[in-house]
Amino acid sequence: MIYYKTEAEIALMRESALLVSKTLAHIAGLLKPGITTLSLDKVIGEFIRDHQAEPTFLNYKGYPFNSCISVNDVVVHGFPDKNELQEGDIISVDIGTYKNGFHGDHAYTFAIGNPGEDVMKLIRVTKESLYKGIEKAIAGNRIGDIAYAIQEHTEKKHGYGVVRELVGHGLGKMLHEDPQVPNYGRRGTGQVLREGLVLAIEPMINMGKKDVYTEEDGWTVRTVDHKPSVHFEHDVCVRKGKADILSDYSIIEAAEKNNPNLFTKA
Ligand code: MF3
Ligand code: CO
Repeated sequence: MIYYKTEAEIALMRESALLVSKTLAHIAGLLKPGITTLSLDKVIGEFIRDHQAEPTFLNYKGYPFNSCISVNDVVVHGFPDKNELQEGDIISVDIGTYKNGFHGDHAYTFAIGNPGEDVMKLIRVTKESLYKGIEKAIAGNRIGDIAYAIQEHTEKKHGYGVVRELVGHGLGKMLHEDPQVPNYGRRGTGQVLREGLVLAIEPMINMGKKDVYTEEDGWTVRTVDHKPSVHFEHDVCVRKGKADILSDYSIIEAAEKNNPNLFTKA
């Protein structure tokens, strides 16, 4: 069942999405070697509640934290923990907010210090692929057009591994709505996109092979070859002619550039 949002609902969804962006920007200002991801998770929960919202992920299907924080070879759904971040780590921070009846859900990958040129390239290419997918999120296109654009840029062009087991999704009153949005597929296939469809588009791209496994905790997804993986996610409303990005990376990128502990050049 696909829910197309009204303009009033889209306005509320933009608020929820922007609160995720603001939370990620706040976290971007705090990242440094020596900080634990558990302390970041605590700040994330407080920041969201201070803005009259709830952290979506907490207790979602039993998920035990406010956020998913995935370091290096963890692809997604990493548990915040007491390990200290190290120079050269990459860290995907994925946050959900529930406000005014709608969810925001997006993610950003940061580099703590310099992880090396090849990893910085993986970060750059994954972010580029997200925007290439978003360009296709216009009325009349199909889900497969988004999927193909992401796979083309990452797997075909750069030889990276596109994770198959996890996909993007519709977003709204529920965190996961139809349709699924894979990061691989064929052009001209799948659900036709109509104005008012809100999608969480989220490439999960591995430096090495595409294969992943889930740890004993039932959540943490890791690359089989233990090479790094990068995750970016935006909340996007399908429109005629041009996709409407409800989330906002510009404030996250500004905070990232202002933090000397973070590496941004690719
Ligand atoms: N952004 C992820 C998703 O879209 C995170 C959800 S997992 C959760 O599926 F359990 F933490 F909520
Ligand atoms: Co998501």
